[in-house]
Formats: sequence, C-alpha cells, structure tokens
Amino acid sequence: MKHLYLDKIKSSESAPKIVKIFSEKEIKMIIDLYSILPERVFNQKQNIRKKVWIQNYNKELDELYFNKLKEVLGNFKMDTLGSEKDGDFYGIFHESFSPLKLHVDSGFIEKDIIYKQVVTPLSDGETVIFKNRWYGRSTNFTIDKNELQLKPEPGKNDKSCAHLGDEKFDQDIYNKYLYHEKIDNLKGLKIDMIYKWKVGETLIMDRSHIHCSSSNIKEKKLGLTTFTKK
Ligand SMILES: [Fe+2]
Repeated sequence: MKHLYLDKIKSSESAPKIVKIFSEKEIKMIIDLYSILPERVFNQKQNIRKKVWIQNYNKELDELYFNKLKEVLGNFKMDTLGSEKDGDFYGIFHESFSPLKLHVDSGFIEKDIIYKQVVTPLSDGETVIFKNRWYGRSTNFTIDKNELQLKPEPGKNDKSCAHLGDEKFDQDIYNKYLYHEKIDNLKGLKIDMIYKWKVGETLIMDRSHIHCSSSNIKEKKLGLTTFTKK
C-alpha cells in the first residue's frame, strides 16, 4: 500500500516540535484516567502494556484534551478506531519496559490523509526521530530475514527493509541511544531529533517520520500517543 493523497499529506508536514499545552494538574488528571482504564494489551514479546483512552470516563478531560490539541493542530480527526458504542479512542497509553524498535505509525488506509502524532510523556523516556519518512502502511523495519518473510496479520504493522540506504550509521550516536537495534538496520538513516521526555511537555511530529525509542529506559516508560488524520 502507498498513501494516495501524498501531496495533501506532504503539504501539512512540518518539523517535530515540543509544546507545553497541559498544566501539572491536567497531566495528573491524564495519569488518573490511565489508572482507571481497563487493560487492553499486554504484549510479552514487546514487553509493553497498552490501554486506550475511551471517552466518557472523564468527560471534562475528554473535552479539554480535544480542545488543547485543536489549538495546536487546527482541524484534525482522531485516528484510533473505537467502536460504535464508545466512539473514537482519544489515544493509546503505552507503558514499556524495554525499548521499542524502529517503526513508523503511518496508518493502514491508503486514502487517509495522515497528519500528526502527539506524544505526551507521563514519565522519563527518550524518542529518536529520523529525518527519513515512509508513506506506506505502518511498518516495523528490520533486516532479519525470518521476520521479513512473515505475512502481517490484519491490522498489524508490515515488515520491511526498504528504508535502508547505503551510508553507515554514526557509531557514537548508536552507542549512546540505539544499541537495542542492529546498526546495519540504521543504514542511510539520519537523526532529526532525539527527544528527552519531560513531563509537562508534548511532542508533535508527522506520522510519516520513522522513529523508535532510545535504548535508555530506566525502569519503565509511560506515554500517551494520539494519532491524527485530516
Ligand atoms: Fe511509534
């Protein structure tokens, strides 16, 4: 799959940026919401726990969150499919105990105009964003031949090595931030931003950016990500 409306997608792209849109009290409300939401996924392989932001647990917070995003994003739609009963999910809380590998969250529907992803740290953490972009389906990037042969399950990320370029990745940056990856899986990639998470800040980046966690997770990392489209 390749996104159909590439021009429209590209016309709203911009550099990753950090904004402060939530007060300390609002961050606390978000963490409280996380604690009462039902568990959704506990993926032992990835060592990650996920919950989705279901509307109506805290209506005041739902409204506040949507409006604050609108202030920075302009018009957007949520892009985490909920159910008819619950409506769209407002985001995914991800608690990880080991670093996520190289991937892109570019979506699954070719006619969608993917837009920004909004990452709000709720603990320490680090995200590495590459300049390199991807306009196919959401994909995990790997050079592992066995992984590449597996057919993705419906709704799951593709596997690909088509991100690779020729240039060897910078060894110092690799040693500091990316030693959970194979250095040869980073060939041709260029760093755009290494974002050191700070509670109270929010990262806004295009959904076409290839990215991953840094290797440095103290104990665990908790964040809220909202995927948007136009
Ligand atoms: Fe991601």
